Amino acid sequence: MEQKTQFPTRISRLVLIGFMGAGKSTVGRLLAQQLQWQFFDADTVLEERAKATIAEIFVQQGEPAFRQLEAETIGDLLTQQHLVLAVGGGAVETESTRTTLLCAPETCVVFLEAPLEIMIARCEQQPGAAIRPVLQDRERLQSRFDVRLPHYRKAHLVIETATLSPADTARKIIEAVSTFMKEKTLA
Ligand code: S3P
Repeated sequence: MEQKTQFPTRISRLVLIGFMGAGKSTVGRLLAQQLQWQFFDADTVLEERAKATIAEIFVQQGEPAFRQLEAETIGDLLTQQHLVLAVGGGAVETESTRTTLLCAPETCVVFLEAPLEIMIARCEQQPGAAIRPVLQDRERLQSRFDVRLPHYRKAHLVIETATLSPADTARKIIEAVSTFMKEKTLA
């Protein structure tokens, strides 16, 4: 675990970023339970708003349209307080989304890092693997990961998850946030 970008002095939102299979939703739910904050998965909210699945949006409207919806959804969710938010693995590909995430007040962005092979293996064990559009495009997975990695690493916190359970990852995040924050409490 290491500290990257300047840490917020007060935190009322935690945002989890990382590639598919990083554990963002699982860890996010655990964090929200422990903090008694609300949890949102930005992709689920996007699908509810669009009344379509991500796979349908990719096929019918294309990836750029999906990224636009993703940027709007994340921007709207970040107005809420006491929030743990998991965002899709490709959200950092959009410059405006990166800016929204890193510049949102009282918001700590946490990158869940793991080797690509481990994350792909995790995804393949999950239901719905066959309809994840980015996972299906095997040839581009490595290049997508390489493009995203420098952006992920600009997070306020980087947590190595390869050998950690989701519960241990959540515990480590809360410890790290408490250590780095000047006020020493989550607000
Ligand atoms: C994507 C990851 C997915 C989802 C969409 C695109 C990506 O989210 O946003 O299928 O580009 O990596 P998860 O990272 O939660 O699987």
